[in-house]
Amino acid sequence: MKAYRAALLRFSDDDHTPLYDADGLLVLGPDAQGQQVVRAAGDFNALKDRFPGVAIEHLPGRLIAPGFVDLHIHYPQTDVIGSPAEGLLPWLENYTFPHESRFHDPTYAADVARFFLDELARNGVTTPLSFATSHPQSVDALMAEAQARGLRLIAGKVLQDRHSPDGVRDQTEQSLLDTEALINKWHGVDRLGYAITPRFAPSCSDAQMRGAGELAAAHPSVWVQSHVAENLDEVKWVRELYPQARSYLDVYREFGLLRERAVYAHCIHFDDNDRALMRDTGAVAAVSPTSNLFLGSGFFDFVAADRAGMGYGLASDVGGGTSFSPFHTMLAAYHVGRAGVTGGGAFKQGISLKPSQLWWQHTAGAARALGLGGVVGNLTPGHEADFVVIRPDATPLLARKTAQANSLEELLFALIVLGDDRLIERTVIAGR
Ligand code: GUN
Ligand code: ZN
Repeated sequence: MKAYRAALLRFSDDDHTPLYDADGLLVLGPDAQGQQVVRAAGDFNALKDRFPGVAIEHLPGRLIAPGFVDLHIHYPQTDVIGSPAEGLLPWLENYTFPHESRFHDPTYAADVARFFLDELARNGVTTPLSFATSHPQSVDALMAEAQARGLRLIAGKVLQDRHSPDGVRDQTEQSLLDTEALINKWHGVDRLGYAITPRFAPSCSDAQMRGAGELAAAHPSVWVQSHVAENLDEVKWVRELYPQARSYLDVYREFGLLRERAVYAHCIHFDDNDRALMRDTGAVAAVSPTSNLFLGSGFFDFVAADRAGMGYGLASDVGGGTSFSPFHTMLAAYHVGRAGVTGGGAFKQGISLKPSQLWWQHTAGAARALGLGGVVGNLTPGHEADFVVIRPDATPLLARKTAQANSLEELLFALIVLGDDRLIERTVIAGR
């Protein structure tokens, strides 16, 4: 067993109430399977005598917090960050597809996978849900590297058998065989999980979508990930492809792709029927604010999502997104929350999301959206030992601003507004 003494942030197990100890203790130990988990967390003085003989590492002036969960990211787009375009579809065509075609080469894929996982760790992200590319070897590269690091990571091979250029387009029958083989190879191995990954409705034939839905039904513990209602040109294209469908989201329902553990990036150009469909099926949204601002896609409606009771959490969506840093993502989510329009011609209510709420949506809330509540994203007893050590005085301005904080909310907001990778002193994965 091992313990850490520092300020400690975590969340109540049943809601998003933040729990904070200015002088806290986090005690780790193995569970029945030998996995390092949280044994106790709370006030140092209240806990210290319960664990005699356990070594305590004292980290004065530091804040320990749950590792961040990134609900939607593309590891092969690490080098696509900052590629300007007139919206989503030209961005895919001119930068993303040509770049992703390079991942047929396993050596190249392994090299990017290593850099990507290093970068996540530097930024305090301990659980990503990532796209690979359409090449099965791109999944193998990422999974193998994550396994070596003991990471809880979920990823999948992209399905895209139409409206896609040579080099990334796959073949319907083979793509489904490859997906099934990858599920059998990686899902549930150590801390790894597989996600069935139809890129988005326009890039998948009906046969491929149907096959993906059949696999999703046959493997209920496997995740599903895709994109929906991100950009107005994309929404119009889906309406032309599926004139009978009630909405873009409804296309996924028809193919059996809405269920628990199904994570849909963006969900911007939705109506209340779509939100109710998300709630009723248990599918959740990966809100990707830096990407939505960068590509000019629109503004996620947090109030309407809460009113409908649909689940969601925060995501970077690198490389449409502009940063690996959860602090940048939380700040962008705050800006998006303030907006009074969706960007699709509709008004929405502008609100000031609470700092602790933003933080929850990127940790315990995102884990719950993934169906991993109680497993990662929090530091109450039983959670796996994935956490970050934050240096609140990482820059002169952060030191000055955080020293003046009069409440937890003020402290968290200073970190969100001014923070980046410099705040993350250490990222601990599975207690190491
Ligand atoms: N829609 C289809 N593919 C993509 C992608 O790679 N990124 C984003 N942001 N949207 C998409
Ligand atoms: Zn994406």
